[in-house]
Amino acid sequence: MGFITVVDPTGAYRDILGELRATCADAEVRSASLVDDSCFSPHVPHVVLIAPTASYVIGIEAARTAAAVGSYTSVVVISPELSTEMLRTAMKAGVADVVSATDSRADISRSVREAYDTLVARQLVAISHSESAEGPTGGRLVTIFSTKGGVGKTVLATNLGVALSKVLGLRTAIVDLDLQFGDVGIMLGLTPERTITDVAADIERLDADLLSGHMTKHDSGLDVLLAPTRPEDAETVTTGRISRILSLLREMYDVVVVDTAATLDEIVLTALDRSDSVYALTMMDVASIKNMRISLQKLKQLGYDDSAVRVVLNRADSKVWLEPQEVERAVGSAIFARIPSDRVVPRSVNKGRPVVLDEPKSDVAKAMVAIARTVAASTQEVATHVA
Ligand SMILES: Nc1ncnc2c1ncn2[C@@H]1O[C@H](COP(=O)(O)OP(=O)(O)OP(=O)(O)O)[C@@H](O)[C@H]1O
Ligand SMILES: [Mg+2]
Repeated sequence: MGFITVVDPTGAYRDILGELRATCADAEVRSASLVDDSCFSPHVPHVVLIAPTASYVIGIEAARTAAAVGSYTSVVVISPELSTEMLRTAMKAGVADVVSATDSRADISRSVREAYDTLVARQLVAISHSESAEGPTGGRLVTIFSTKGGVGKTVLATNLGVALSKVLGLRTAIVDLDLQFGDVGIMLGLTPERTITDVAADIERLDADLLSGHMTKHDSGLDVLLAPTRPEDAETVTTGRISRILSLLREMYDVVVVDTAATLDEIVLTALDRSDSVYALTMMDVASIKNMRISLQKLKQLGYDDSAVRVVLNRADSKVWLEPQEVERAVGSAIFARIPSDRVVPRSVNKGRPVVLDEPKSDVAKAMVAIARTVAASTQEVATHVA
């Protein structure tokens, strides 16, 4: 249980307390007239909401203090005006979000909820690190899977990677295992200098340092292991080598996201074997659904644990196709999360900048971040359904 403190010297924002209690039932919601030591919790999540009745400068100072003392405190500021200058200062200071005083109470509460969830995810990772200090358990591996092409695997994988690293602050790597036609690099706007082929060539002497040097750094903080630039180079990347690479990456990162080709070959099976969870992606058209049903059945026959496979419905609001309930029935599995269809996605693909960065306020970006939170929380078995 954590805290939410509304800093509101005049009490004019008292009516938001009820809304916050409803949205954040797992936190103790209180109000205060100023920011003091009790706002900086060293061990539990604490979101400090600065009402416009206090100056936003107080919020900026609080964010700086929170970072300096290493607490689990995040600051959200409600501001009467939103200038670019002010937003930049706030973000630099580490303020989690700045919302407008004209936003609804529900919207403001949602922003607080997101800041709170991010802290919970960070805390869980910290706990898992301290537990793993006794043994080399490492991070978690997540595979994005669909035997149908063009359903949005790479869009999901790249956005998850960026959200985990930039929004949730986790050490994250993404591996492009679509060895023939991988386009993770293109979607992230990266120029390939080193790829998985170089790692495969160094496999005999591979260690964390060497592997680190072969990762391409994205400006979100995400580390990327790119697919070969020439399809014929894929041959050297054998399943044995992939296994070794994935094991090592797992020791090096909090989360490893694996993008795969639209098939169920030895390479995809190698990734699935090593995965803590599998995000199986489908769209709502009949061909995709039929494909998903068969793939899920196959995974079951191969002995994969049902509970580790999470069905994600992409372009979930496309009106011409089936109802989500019909999809659930047809796929034979519950839908874990939905991603809406939006023109911002193809635009962001063309720009080489994932929607989580390019259009962070879009519903697609919010859906991606919500899924990223389930990834962050998954091995602690506190995953929440976001469908
Ligand atoms: N939610 C969405 N809304 C709108 N367009 C989308 C959405 N998701 C994906 N797309 C579009 O679908 C295209 C295909 O997506 P993507 O390349 O991620 O599929 P894939 O499953 O990785 O395909 P492949 O199996 O060929 O690698 C993207 O270029 C993007 O424009
Ligand atoms: Mg792809």
